[in-house]
Amino acid sequence: MCHDAFPAYRGKMEYECLGCGKSFPTDQLLYTCPDCGGVFLLKDRNCNELKKLSGGEWRKIFDARAGMRCTPLRGIFRFYELMAPVFEPEDILYLGEGNTPIVAGAPALQEYAGIPFSFKNEGQNPSASFKDRGMACAYSYLRSLVRRHHWKDVLTICASTGDTSAAAALYGAYVGDPIKTAVILPLGKVTPQQLAQPLGSGASVLEIPGVFDDCMKVVERLADRYRVALLNSKNSWRILGQESYAFEVAQWYGWDVEDLALFVPVGNAGNISAVMSGLLKMRCLGIIEGLPKLFGVQSEHADPVWRYYSKPVQERKYEPVAVRPSVAQAAMIGDPVSFPRVKKLVEAYEEAGGTFSVMQVTEQEIMDADMLVNRHGHIACTQGGECFAGMLRAGKAGLLQNCREAVLDSTAHALKFIDFQNMYMDGSFPDAYGVTPDARLANRPVSVLTEKECRGLDRMTLAERAAAQIASMLGLEPLKKA
Ligand code: F0G
Repeated sequence: MCHDAFPAYRGKMEYECLGCGKSFPTDQLLYTCPDCGGVFLLKDRNCNELKKLSGGEWRKIFDARAGMRCTPLRGIFRFYELMAPVFEPEDILYLGEGNTPIVAGAPALQEYAGIPFSFKNEGQNPSASFKDRGMACAYSYLRSLVRRHHWKDVLTICASTGDTSAAAALYGAYVGDPIKTAVILPLGKVTPQQLAQPLGSGASVLEIPGVFDDCMKVVERLADRYRVALLNSKNSWRILGQESYAFEVAQWYGWDVEDLALFVPVGNAGNISAVMSGLLKMRCLGIIEGLPKLFGVQSEHADPVWRYYSKPVQERKYEPVAVRPSVAQAAMIGDPVSFPRVKKLVEAYEEAGGTFSVMQVTEQEIMDADMLVNRHGHIACTQGGECFAGMLRAGKAGLLQNCREAVLDSTAHALKFIDFQNMYMDGSFPDAYGVTPDARLANRPVSVLTEKECRGLDRMTLAERAAAQIASMLGLEPLKKA
């Protein structure tokens, strides 16, 4: 361990209710306000202490940590003081999350888009989605509670569209005793890869006919009535961990983010809340000067946040929507738990000089975008494709003028959602998605030699015949003999 390098600062974290404004101590796990049922954000009451250092001094500290060999500070806790500065080094869980690459858009794609952009590849986290950031923080908090209270058994539970569950199960399996994990999934609405993840980690996997919003109601009841640790983003420790995305983006761009545009897909609205909260924190401490343009992106099949913000201020009224099948399935949520957080944070964001917009995109745009970007060497999931589609829309609407670069959050790895690509390629998309594949993008394996043709051939002859057939198929020019 590296106790000498570990920060000495300790915060005084409290849950602050966004409904009634009351605060509660964090010596217990609370999800919603016991008084009014509102959701929380975690606040560090000591944070004025952090202002004793200048923005420049903080930047130096975080930059120096990037090169440090200290496991608890290697991942998201490089930004320890900005997130959950109450953990001891032994509480901190590191499975390799965070520090995900920001990869410049392929040159031909940048030309096509007409705006410089990069993907931040959140699929390169351990469970292949951004959820690992929040999970590392929430499990570190749980470990600190287990250490302090000597708990003998803890059951973590979450509802999920497939990625929260994969992350919860992975981190739970790593911690082991006394933690066990159960995940509640909408039957048939997570991908086979996402379903395989918690099964492989040994979690209890419970499937319910319905959509994510139904599963969320079930876990809320369980969390209200039984001793369980809820790991959905209602758990505000998750939001804290996900703020690290914003810190990493700022650090990568030399702490100068004012003329960037960040695109984030919105489902349960935890991620967009975390990104905003992180940006505001850095701004408050002078670590960044100006705020980037922030864009949420939603599919027209699951767009409650877009519906709210597309109206003029006086006419805004939040209403849950009934979702329809979406290729951005992980964000297919009609009643986002973190909507109150978004509302509050957007007010603060705009007050601090930032702009926030939500782009609505069609299923067709998402799927075409996803196919296109991955054809250019990216590894975007459908939600990453959604961000690209949102960027194109924003560009057309003239919202990206004077923008240096767009940063697109590809929230998971392409492979988790590969069945959508397969349906696109073999033309088997159910009508409900409203996606018509572009046949030019279909790509299938081609057989070389039949089994019958291979039978009885020795390896050299087989290689000779297969090579000749491949050369003819690909139109290869024979090498000229010298
Ligand atoms: N992208 C991916 C890959 C996701 O898994 C999710 C959410 C989102 C985007 C939307 O993020 O909910 O913070 O607005 N997945 C959750 C889950 C709901 O259960 O895995 P959000």
